[in-house]
Amino acid sequence: MILAANFKSNLNRAKTAAYVQTLDTFCTQNGVDDRVMVFPPASALCVGGLHVSVGAQNAFAAKNGAFTGELAQDQLDEFNIRTVLIGHSERRHVIGERQELIAEKFAYYQKQGFEIVYCIGEPLEVREEGNDALLEYLEAQYEGIDLHYSGLIVAYEPVWAIGTGLTPTLANIELIHSAIKERTSRPLLYGGSVKKENAREILALEHVDGVLVGSGALEVNHFCSMIADAKSLHVHKERVKS
Ligand code: PGA
Repeated sequence: MILAANFKSNLNRAKTAAYVQTLDTFCTQNGVDDRVMVFPPASALCVGGLHVSVGAQNAFAAKNGAFTGELAQDQLDEFNIRTVLIGHSERRHVIGERQELIAEKFAYYQKQGFEIVYCIGEPLEVREEGNDALLEYLEAQYEGIDLHYSGLIVAYEPVWAIGTGLTPTLANIELIHSAIKERTSRPLLYGGSVKKENAREILALEHVDGVLVGSGALEVNHFCSMIADAKSLHVHKERVKS
């Protein structure tokens, strides 16, 4: 499975370094073999640990250049960062990134061979129109995106579930994930109000390959507890598959 923590605009450089170190030690000592990644804010980017990868929350589609306020590939290369988050709901809805720009970033970092965690998700008014409308909305977020890219990880994050404490029902996550899986065979994470109390039941779902966690992962011990849940679920999921 894949467990990813998105710090957003939280934690500074020193706190991120301590977090990554604690997390890395936890993973090593517990023989974790799931993928574990963290996405710190730009000012706290650092090289990853033995087990933990560090990714960027955003990056401009260029090697370098005149793009005030943006990080480009050169700034990621300095820390050997090879993973980037693209299309997060806060970039789409708070910052106002359009699908066209998102697709440009995707194409650039795909060409560079980066691992891309590509986020999709619907706002509440779309969800209220029902599953067909929801899936149609997601289709528009696939525009310009190579859903067969071998470095792609998809994260389904309903906008209304992010940072609100609300989550879809488990049955609904399962339904939407199985529909997304008809479009891409790449790993599919669920995100939106995942926390240590509900991670296990979400990770246990058949079509969930991992989680993308925001506020629920800001305390490193909470994120470690979710990683332990994932580890303990392996046997269970294998049994369900066979
Ligand atoms: P949340 O955020 O866990 O705080 O809801 C998830 C995300 O935005 O990736």
